[in-house]
Amino acid sequence: MADRLLDAMARSASRLYGGEAVSELEHALQCAELARAAGADEELQLACLLHDVGRYAVDPSLVFDTGEPSRAGPHARGHHEVGAELLAPWVPERVAWCVRAHADAKRYLCATEPDYFARLSAEAAPDQRCPRADRLLDGRAPRRASRGHSARGHR
Ligand SMILES: [Fe+2]
Repeated sequence: MADRLLDAMARSASRLYGGEAVSELEHALQCAELARAAGADEELQLACLLHDVGRYAVDPSLVFDTGEPSRAGPHARGHHEVGAELLAPWVPERVAWCVRAHADAKRYLCATEPDYFARLSAEAAPDQRCPRADRLLDGRAPRRASRGHSARGHR
């Protein structure tokens, strides 16, 4: 499993993270580094490193939110769910839980913290990609004008 993950992560260096100016690998490394710098323990750093593994280490037909919807099959699920299931047998339960919860955590932050939402790039804002976030936002968070790409977003 470690070899599969390392190979997938290496290949993710050539995939842009959505429409952002960073690759999937750079996004993962940035997230893990931010967690380390904030004093997170090793499990949380690992969760940050692997949180989007469902975007690049699984069969794309199983995932509907990789930015390539035409490849999603009829039973596709969110990358956070598929990624957590991929990792669950191999990582501490807390790591898999964090991977599964990260998309909902972002939606929660977008719904409750306007400053968080405002810092996301237009590419990373969930308003066009996530109907559940639209319901959560319920018009409270500002819609943003497109301002190009940003390395600060997260999906
Ligand atoms: Fe994600």
